[in-house]
Amino acid sequence: MNKFILIIIFFFTSFDTKIVAFTPKARHSHASIVVDGKVYYFGGITPTTEGSQILSNEMFYFDITKEVDTSSILWVDQTATSPMSVQTEGATTVVGSNDNNTIFMVGGTMFHPKTNTLEMNALVYAFNINNQIWSKVEVLGATPPGRKQAKGVIDPNGKIYLFCGINANYVSGGVIGYLGGMEIFDTKSLSWSTVTSDNTEWRGQYSATILENGNIIYLGGLTMLNADVDISKAYIYNTNTGIWSTEGIKGDATITIDNRYGHSAVLYKGKIIIYGGAKGLNQVTPNPSLVFLKVDGEQYVWETPQTLTIDNPPLPVSHHSAEIVGDFMIVAFGNVTNNLTLPTSANDKVFLFNLNTYSWVSHFNPPPPPSQTDTDGKNSSTDAGGNPILTDGSNGYLTPSKTFHVL
Ligand SMILES: *[C@@H]1O[C@H](CO)[C@@H](O)[C@H](O)[C@H]1NC(C)=O
Ligand SMILES: *[C@@H]1O[C@H](CO)[C@@H](O)[C@H](O)[C@H]1NC(C)=O
Ligand SMILES: *[C@@H]1O[C@H](CO)[C@@H](O)[C@H](O)[C@H]1NC(C)=O
Ligand SMILES: *[C@@H]1O[C@H](CO)[C@@H](O)[C@H](O)[C@H]1NC(C)=O
Repeated sequence: MNKFILIIIFFFTSFDTKIVAFTPKARHSHASIVVDGKVYYFGGITPTTEGSQILSNEMFYFDITKEVDTSSILWVDQTATSPMSVQTEGATTVVGSNDNNTIFMVGGTMFHPKTNTLEMNALVYAFNINNQIWSKVEVLGATPPGRKQAKGVIDPNGKIYLFCGINANYVSGGVIGYLGGMEIFDTKSLSWSTVTSDNTEWRGQYSATILENGNIIYLGGLTMLNADVDISKAYIYNTNTGIWSTEGIKGDATITIDNRYGHSAVLYKGKIIIYGGAKGLNQVTPNPSLVFLKVDGEQYVWETPQTLTIDNPPLPVSHHSAEIVGDFMIVAFGNVTNNLTLPTSANDKVFLFNLNTYSWVSHFNPPPPPSQTDTDGKNSSTDAGGNPILTDGSNGYLTPSKTFHVL
């Protein structure tokens, strides 16, 4: 009997150490990116059972060149081998630089992990994919104040656009410094420039998605008065001309698309795929959770597809992340929202939505490897989403159109 129990204990112990190498804690307001055949996750806020919200400096990934089952993800923790310089939440991570081999991290809250002090001026950190080292970017010229609640996207010229946000100096209870306009960080010249906005109203916690034509689509978010921004209108910034415009969104009049902030928005085949987010002061679940915005025609149109749940039904989450890989949207972590109260827990799971079959599934099949670079290094093939595949010498699993919510 005792021996039997011992064997069982031994079995589970060895199972644990061999198979479950690392299990990330539940979190929200983290950053993510797909690069080099991996989905990377950075930082975020990990709540404790006592209700404290702890800033994280963790970095971990899973491999998307292999099949993945969401119940047994082989996470790889890189926190110790590639330590991040700061604990972060609400940061933007994008791939840029002259050879697309660097992950840039800008914005959000950055805390020095040892001294626990805000790193307000150290706005840009970079992770070199080749040597796997984080460093602080030596910015040329002036550095503007850091922006929280702002979300960045990168254009094909390597420029990161950060719109509005609040001054990162803000600490709870202090005076909020609302920052307007657009801050642009050029990942090639390593310098900032500012575009003073026209009258576009301030907002935070919106989603930002850059289209192939260079337009950045801003949706939802919160106003200065903590009111939800009207999501029936898209705010569009043209990165080629620097001109703002707005566009009313059409849809089925019988279906209300709730306003939301802290939602995710990713581009797939001419549609922005929006998931989750929060509504109102209690951060309750907006409906419908999953909604598509068709942006490849003259008129922007909402679509609310009938979806199937095969297995692994998604939780309603806000301040999560979403990535597109092949025909899949990978939703991860986030605050778990409900219909009534503030979120009471965070999510530690990954949900997969198959955009081909419109179903929530537990199994991920990797897309075929992207085509390789031709002689001039500018092979212009497109991925399943119709997005240009980067010919950057990494394996091409880059998603330049990705966005994610920030706090
Ligand atoms: C880097 O990525 C962008 C797309 O975001 C692409 O247009 C550009 O050609 C790439 N640069 C290099 C050197 O591969
Ligand atoms: C929240 O509301 C939605 C729609 O109003 C409903 O479908 C869902 O079941 C509700 N969830 C809970 C947990 O009550
Ligand atoms: C996430 O949930 C916690 C706990 O309810 C809450 O304090 C926090 O405001 C929520 N959202 C964000 C973005 O932190
Ligand atoms: C891109 O690469 C693929 C496969 O390597 C090749 O068949 C195709 O002709 C290339 N396209 C261009 C525009 O060079």
